Amino acid sequence: MINKAIRQQLELLLQSGIKEIYSPPDQKGQQLADLAQQYQSCQKCELSQGRTKLVYGEGNPDAFIMIIGEGPGASEDLSGRPFVGKAGELLTKMLAAIKFSREEVYIANIVKCRPPSNRNPLPEERLACLPYLLEQISIIQPRMFLFMGLVAAQTLLRSNESMGELRQREHLFQNTPAFVTYHPAALLRNPNWKHGAWADLQKFEKRYYQLRES
Ligand code: URA
Repeated sequence: MINKAIRQQLELLLQSGIKEIYSPPDQKGQQLADLAQQYQSCQKCELSQGRTKLVYGEGNPDAFIMIIGEGPGASEDLSGRPFVGKAGELLTKMLAAIKFSREEVYIANIVKCRPPSNRNPLPEERLACLPYLLEQISIIQPRMFLFMGLVAAQTLLRSNESMGELRQREHLFQNTPAFVTYHPAALLRNPNWKHGAWADLQKFEKRYYQLRES
């Protein structure tokens, strides 16, 4: 029941011609945008020396699903956006295959600056950058993770297991279900792994609908 004083207030607003009540801007989105801006000058590790743009992450600040890759490549370094090169095109197709758009998930990486010649990020680089990712996760509060490739999976799950082992089961990262599949760049190099990736995506999709209903 609407309280009398509130109703009177609303009627007064209506009479004065105000038909919509101001709704605050998307706070999570604003928070992420502010942080992305703040970190553009980061110099916490050597990767900052070679970057064109820091690649903070992008997508739905309220995403149910968070996708985590390894680190920017050449196209991402130039554009400042994650997964926009060849591997990114494949990621977009992989998501579309399970009926997700890039816009409804949130996409980030273990490191936010491009490693030289696309080498794997070093342990100290991952460690320096991890607080930024953990901060993003704490803002977005996703209900599911998809880790793309061994670097993301081993770093976040603190594991030395192989891709074969990590893909076998559902994990928990910060109490949230996490799945592991091949990195799209690895799939471009090894197209015969696509069958396995498809099986991973189907498992992921099935679990998504279970979690959505719970
Ligand atoms: N590979 C990644 O892991 N992340 C990107 O953003 C691009 C390529």
